[in-house]
Amino acid sequence: MRVIQHPILHFQRGREIKFTFNGRELTGYEGETIAAALHASGVRALGHSPRLNRPRGFFCATGNCSSCLMKVNGIANVRVCITPLQEGAVVEVQKGKGDILATD
Ligand code: FES
Repeated sequence: MRVIQHPILHFQRGREIKFTFNGRELTGYEGETIAAALHASGVRALGHSPRLNRPRGFFCATGNCSSCLMKVNGIANVRVCITPLQEGAVVEVQKGKGDILATD
């Protein structure tokens, strides 16, 4: 669900763009966060707790907790509630604490 009209706020929506979530093609809008695009597409569980594997979704939505950590374009532990959606982004639920990237 996406708020289209609001009595006080005015939304300027960018163009529609495509991205993938766990291999599934979804659409969102330029200027919105990855979490907002996922939420609008019906994705509520953004990850799972590392220890007890409980579903995690939006909590603070301001980048101050770690409830929305996901793997984006191969990079683990991205806070998707504050990360803008980009065309062709590859978004995945990460397992556990996420992989550490090897550097050359
Ligand atoms: S929901 Fe808290 S950092 Fe994203």
